[in-house]
Order: sequence, then structure tokens, then C-alpha cells
Amino acid sequence: MKTVAVVGSQWGDEGKGKIVDLLAADADIVVRFQGGNNAAHTLVVNGEKFILRLVPAGALHDGKICVIGNGTVVDPIALVEEIENLKSRLRLKDDALLKLSYDAHMVMPYHRAIDRAREARLGKSAIGTTGFGIGPAYEDKMARIGLRFDDLTNFAVFVEKLERNIRDKNLYLKTLLKAKPVNGAEIIAQMRRARTRLMRYLCDTSTFLHEAIAAGRRVLFEGAHGVMLDIDHGTYPYVTSSNCGASAVFGGGGIAPGELDAVLGISKAYTTRVGAGPFPTEIKGKLADALRAEGDEFGSATGRPRRIGWFDSVLARHAVRLNGIWGLALTKLDVLTGIDPLKACTAYEIRGTRYEGIPPGRHMLERVKPVYEEMPGWTESITEARSLEELPSNARRYLARISELSGVKLAMVGVGASREATIVISNPFLT
Ligand code: GDP
Ligand code: IMO
Ligand code: MG
Repeated sequence: MKTVAVVGSQWGDEGKGKIVDLLAADADIVVRFQGGNNAAHTLVVNGEKFILRLVPAGALHDGKICVIGNGTVVDPIALVEEIENLKSRLRLKDDALLKLSYDAHMVMPYHRAIDRAREARLGKSAIGTTGFGIGPAYEDKMARIGLRFDDLTNFAVFVEKLERNIRDKNLYLKTLLKAKPVNGAEIIAQMRRARTRLMRYLCDTSTFLHEAIAAGRRVLFEGAHGVMLDIDHGTYPYVTSSNCGASAVFGGGGIAPGELDAVLGISKAYTTRVGAGPFPTEIKGKLADALRAEGDEFGSATGRPRRIGWFDSVLARHAVRLNGIWGLALTKLDVLTGIDPLKACTAYEIRGTRYEGIPPGRHMLERVKPVYEEMPGWTESITEARSLEELPSNARRYLARISELSGVKLAMVGVGASREATIVISNPFLT
């Protein structure tokens, strides 16, 4: 297969960065197609840790083209910082290898200010956003007042639009949100500097990708967040402001439906979530603390402790159905070593009624009780395993059951944070 999308099947942080990095070895182009720097994708290469927020995870392989597509929202200041950081670590040396869509929308300092002020105002009902202005930036896109990188081509016109927005946003910040207004002159100066740095990357990425696919090049689409954070199919309103599933590859990558060959779903061997909202299989107390410590479950974007839960096959089936998932990469199996018994959620119940899928009306997710199946654990370290045969039999049994419950075959299993610590059962680019 030549075009593959990697999508998160849970609430984000499934380990997409690591899997994309691994698959990038066999790809020519890696594309981000939605989200912004609310994403944080961690890669560990030769013991060195990288956290990528906007730049696709292909950046750590020499000669791969990285595309930031039209469906993303990009904070120009954060992007410049990320590029500088990668350059200082001897990556992204060739500017021709990064392509930024003219049509991608910019996240402005007023978006961040609004995001934070709204969350503060919501108090206990806050969504727990990353505070990077993602929701307000997508709102402006839909309201047709957003600023795109295309606007930078005529800076005088750009400044006019920016000033109009700053006036409106400051009024909103001051009068409704009772928050500090943003400094217009400072923002214009920041954008002038960002423009100088970023114009060189601008590209008609949709046409570029179409031509690359037609020429038979291998393209990897790197999803951000996860299906349960999807604006339509997640736990609304406790979601992010974009579609995060495979469907977003078309709108946000600018390619046609027939141009995508396969979707690889990424899921942890358990579940985590950052921020508020329903989480049926959540566990609290000592076991959650132990898993959090072992799995280093602290948000890579904000440092917040992640909430922890058992593997939830109801959510996995939801993700498989919505995305047409071809295979599942199950990450962090090593974190479950020493936990006995292991549990997996097979279905939900509400007052004696059993649900195999998410009950109709997402509000019901607040009320479901998970039905669990217990499985015996293992104690041997599995971090050196590179094939299923090298795993303890109970680990193999756990994997087989997760695959059966999810209704999809396993394509990869993660046994450690580094690029190599992966059991590859089938690589979509090599099938
Ligand atoms: P992403 O947002 O989906 O890319 O995931 P994050 O990078 O936010 O979080 C995943 C974390 O798990 C990172 O710290 C990874 O280095 C780490 N990780 C990924 N796969 C594995 C694995 O199989 N085992 C272990 N122990 N850590 C992993
Ligand atoms: P990656 O790509 C985990 C969550 C936030 C919050 C909600 C809305 O690293 O998997 P936003 O700032 O997007 O408006 O916040 O979505 N969230 C993520 N959680 N991983 C992510 O990305 C996330 N991106 C957004 O914590 O609950
Ligand atoms: Mg992450």
C-alpha cells in the first residue's frame, strides 16, 4: 500500500508519534492534516527524545518531505520555535523538505487569550483544553474571519484584517470575558518576523500531494488527537475542535477519498485521557498511580497527569467502524507487565441493559458501567521482544483477546518508547 493514515483510536497520546516515526522509514512524505500544537507527539531516537507539535514526525528521517496541510491550525510563533529547535538539533536542515499549506489557518495570540479566559470563566465545567487557542482559531475559520498563510503574501492587507480582528477580539476579551486585551502592535511585529521565516515553506500542498500520489510516492498521514476527541464522534463538548479521524485526511490533506489505501489505528494497551469528560473505564487510586508512573503518563503538551483506565473495546469498535481501520498498533504493552489480573471492558451496562456499542445519545456515556473480563498478567520483562513468539503466553493471550474484542487484526505491538521497541506484525507499506 502506498498511502496510509495513522489515527488515534482513544483520547489522544496513544503513541502516534512513535508509530509514524517508525513507518516514516518506508514513506517519502509525512503529512499533518488537522489539529495544531495542541498535539504533542513523542519520539525516542537513539536515546534522544523529541516532542513534535506541528512538524510531522517524518522530520527525524533524512530526506523525507514533511507537509503541514490545509486542515491544520498553525501558531506561526510556535512553528518558528519548533523549526529552530529542530535545526539546532541538526534536523530539518533543508528548507525544501518542509511544506506549509497556503490555506492553513493561523492561531493568533488573541485565540490563546480567549481559550484561557473562557476556561477560567467556566471554572468547574472547564473542558481542560491545552490553552493553545485551538478552538477559537477553528471558530474563526468557520466564521470566515480567520487569517491564512495565504494572507501573508500581501502584508498590508494582512495587517488590515488582523487589526479588524484584534479590535473585535479585544472587545470580547474585555467586556465579556473580563480578561486582559492583547497588544496589537506587538502581534503585528511578531507576525512580521514570522512571515520572514515562514514564507519560504508555503506550498499548494493539496496539488503537491495529488501529484506525489499519482507518481507512486508513499505518503503517510499523521493524525493528531484521537477519535474520542473528534468534534463529531467524540465525547462532545469534551473534545477538540477538529475531526481527528480518517475522514479528515480528505478535507484537511486535500486529497480524494480514493487516494487513501489504508488506515492504521493506534491504541494503548490500556486507556488514558487528559482533560475533563466521561471516561467509562477510568481507574483511580494506587493502581492508576502505578500505571501513570510506569507509563510516564504526563501530558507532553501541558505536563498534566493523564487519567488512566483499562482497555475499552467498546471505544475500539467505535474507532474501527468510523475509520475503516485495517490494522491496530497496540502500544505500551510493556507498561502492563506485573499487573495481575488485567481487565478489558467488553461492553457497557446501564441499569441491566447491555450495550455492545456506545449507547445512542452521547450523554449516556456518563452513566454507563463497564462490563469487564479479567485475564492473567505476566511478570517477565517484554521490552526486548521483537516477535510475538518472544512474548510470555499470557501477553500473547491478552493481545489475541484485545484484537478479537476490537474486531481488527493487530499490525504492531509497542514494548518500549524507542523506535526499535516494536513488534511489527504487518507494515502497511510493505503489504
Ligand atoms: P502521541 O501524542 O499519540 O504521539 O503520544 P504521546 O507522545 O503524547 O504519548 C505517548 C508516550 O508513550 C510517549 O512518551 C512515548 O514515548 C511513549 N511510548 C510510545 N509507545 C510506547 C511503548 O510501546 N512503550 C512505552 N513504554 N512507551 C511508549
Ligand atoms: P495528541 O496528538 C491528548 C484534549 C485536551 C482537552 C481537549 C480540548 O498528542 O494525541 P484543545 O486544546 O484541543 O481545545 O483541548 O482535547 N487534547 C488532547 N489530549 N492528546 C492530544 O493530542 C490532545 N489534543 C487535545 O486535553 O481535553
Ligand atoms: Mg500526545
